Amino acid sequence: MQVTSSIAQLKSFQNKWQNQTIVFVPTMGNLHNGHLSLVEKAKQSGDKVIVSVFVNPLQFGPKEDFDSYPRSLEDDLLKLKTKQVDLVFTPDKKSLYPNGEENQSFITVPTLNKILCGVTRPHFFQGVATVVAKLFNLVKPDIAIFGEKDYQQLLIIKKMVLDLNYDIDIQSGEIIRENDGLALSSRNRYLTNEQRKIAPLLQQELQSMRKALENNQTNFSNLCELGISNLQQHGFKVDYLDIRAMDLTDALPSQKEFIILAAAFLGTTRLIDNIKYNHR
Ligand code: PAF
Repeated sequence: MQVTSSIAQLKSFQNKWQNQTIVFVPTMGNLHNGHLSLVEKAKQSGDKVIVSVFVNPLQFGPKEDFDSYPRSLEDDLLKLKTKQVDLVFTPDKKSLYPNGEENQSFITVPTLNKILCGVTRPHFFQGVATVVAKLFNLVKPDIAIFGEKDYQQLLIIKKMVLDLNYDIDIQSGEIIRENDGLALSSRNRYLTNEQRKIAPLLQQELQSMRKALENNQTNFSNLCELGISNLQQHGFKVDYLDIRAMDLTDALPSQKEFIILAAAFLGTTRLIDNIKYNHR
């Protein structure tokens, strides 16, 4: 496994691998089994796997955890080595943002940027789309793989790729969960023991809502209100809980496929999760 923080070296690998299918998994490090499942998928999807590790300042708000975001490069590299990744790209801030705070070119996908997570984190998706576009320009992958836990992020990247004519096949990997149902996330480590016991209730609430859809309940706003109130009773501060169509537009009772999405705080830790529902 090669590791480089240099854009010039990354380019020299690309030159060597010109006739091979390059599969890219962008990450912010602090890798868990969710990331590693994307890497496994990448290994099966092409010839060379490139993983990037970069904590992107542009996707953190001024009051968010950029400085304290867990960084564990040594440990990440050991994990990636066991998955036989070909190249790990670990750029520094200066090489990705040579103009620092003066960076003035951004990628925005306005309709998808403003809803759900975008309401309380208005900076977030512009930061994600911009860094992913930069990484695509540098890595030049044939395929890129993103996790479905960040479903809104996945749709934004797909839209960006379509709108900007990137010749990249965007694939996704399913949510990986702890045994008690909590979706894996680098931020789970912030939870206190008490909060960790409560955290799986988020997923359980989504499951109950899915059951209600299965039982042909179509009053979506009532279902969401009930879900929010249940979560609040357990100590969650709910950012949003919503039932949407798969393209994240408003859900209509006549539709067959839905996604139930939530973001909620336990203390200062923000958890997100989603489940899909297909009405056969
Ligand atoms: O999902 C993430 O870890 C990040 O948002 C990404 C896609 C690596 C961009 O920084």
